Amino acid sequence: MTVLVTGGAGYIGGHVVAELVARGEDVVVVDDLSTGNAERVAGTTLVELDLASDGAPDALERVLRQRGVTDVIHFAGRKQVGESAERPVWYWAQNVGSLLAVLTAMENAGCRRIVFSSSASVYGEVDGDVLAESLPLAPVSPYARTKRAGEEILDDAAAAGTVTPVSLRYFNAAGAGSDLLGDTFVQNLIPMVFERLDAGSRPRIFGDDYPTDDGTCVRDYVHVVDLARAHLLAVDHLRLVDEAGIVGTPRAINVGTGRGSSVKEVLDEVRAVTGDETAPVVVDRRPGDPARSVADVTLARNVLGFTAELGLHEMVESAWRAWRAR
Ligand SMILES: NC(=O)c1ccc[n+]([C@@H]2O[C@H](COP(=O)([O-])OP(=O)(O)OC[C@H]3O[C@@H](n4cnc5c(N)ncnc54)[C@H](O)[C@@H]3O)[C@@H](O)[C@H]2O)c1
Repeated sequence: MTVLVTGGAGYIGGHVVAELVARGEDVVVVDDLSTGNAERVAGTTLVELDLASDGAPDALERVLRQRGVTDVIHFAGRKQVGESAERPVWYWAQNVGSLLAVLTAMENAGCRRIVFSSSASVYGEVDGDVLAESLPLAPVSPYARTKRAGEEILDDAAAAGTVTPVSLRYFNAAGAGSDLLGDTFVQNLIPMVFERLDAGSRPRIFGDDYPTDDGTCVRDYVHVVDLARAHLLAVDHLRLVDEAGIVGTPRAINVGTGRGSSVKEVLDEVRAVTGDETAPVVVDRRPGDPARSVADVTLARNVLGFTAELGLHEMVESAWRAWRAR
C-alpha cells in the first residue's frame, strides 16, 4: 500500500510522514513548498505541485497511478484566519480548489480512502464544556468555512460511494517530534511567545476578561506526535471500513486531549521551561476567539482507538528545543 501525503512538508504533515515511514509504509509527498520545508521530508519522494493550479488534477492523477497510491492524507492548505478574511476568494480557491483537485484525481485513478485535515474552528463560538462532533457547525472565518465546505464535499462524495473519507477536526497542535519538525508559524500561541521573548518583547495575552477560571482563553493543546499517531489510526480505520464494506461510520472526528489549558497556564509552562521571567502584557481580545474550545474525545477513542498521551509540559519543552535549533 502507498500513502500520498499532500502538504507533507508542513508542520503536521512532516510528523505524519515520519511516523508512516517509521512503520514501513511506502510514502509519496505532494507539496508546493509555499509554507513547507523540503528538509522535513528528506529521503521521501517529494513531488512539487501546486494543487490549486490549473492542471493539478491531471498531474496528481499521474502520480496516483504511477505510484499505485491506495490512501491519501490531505493536509495541503492555508491556515491563517486573519489572512483568510483579507483574501477570502483566494482562500476558497486554495483550500477548496486543492481538495477538489485531489478528489478528481482520486476518482479518475480509482483511489478511495482519504483523511482530511479539518479544524476545531468549524464549531465557531460555542458555549459548552466540551465540543462534540454532533454540534451544529458555525464557523466564523472564511478559513473555517473552507474547512466546513471540505467536510461537506467529502460527505457528498461518500454518499455517492466514490470515496471513503474521514475528516479529523484538530484542536491546537503544539510541540515537535524532533528539532527539524518544529512549528515555525508564529500565529500559533507557543511559537508566538517564543518569538516575542527572542525579540525582548513581552508575550501578549489577547483578553483576560473571558468567562473562564483565570479570564484567558482555554484551548485543547494536542501534541503533534499524538496528532500524527491519530492519522495512522485513521488510515488503518479507513482500510478496515473499506475492505469490510462497513457503512455509516463517523465522517468527522475530533482530535484533542479532552483537557483545556488557559493562555495563562501555557505562559506559566513557557516560563518554567525557558526560565524567562518576562511578564506578559494584556491586550485587546482578537475577534472570533471563543472563550473555550476543548474536544469531546469519545469518538476518537471509540472509533480510532486514539487517546493523547503527551501533556502541556512535553509540548512546550519539545517546541522550545526545536525553536532554539532553527
Ligand atoms: N496547525 C494547527 O494547529 C492546525 C489546526 C487545525 C487544522 N490544521 C490544518 O492542518 C493542515 C496542515 O497544517 P500545518 O499546521 O501543518 O500547516 P503548514 O502550513 O505547516 O502545512 C501546510 C503544507 O501544505 C503545503 N501547501 C499549501 N498550499 C498548497 C497547495 N496549493 N499545493 C500544494 N501544497 C500546498 C505547504 O507548503 C505546507 O507544506 C492545514 O490544512 C491546516 O489548515 C492545522
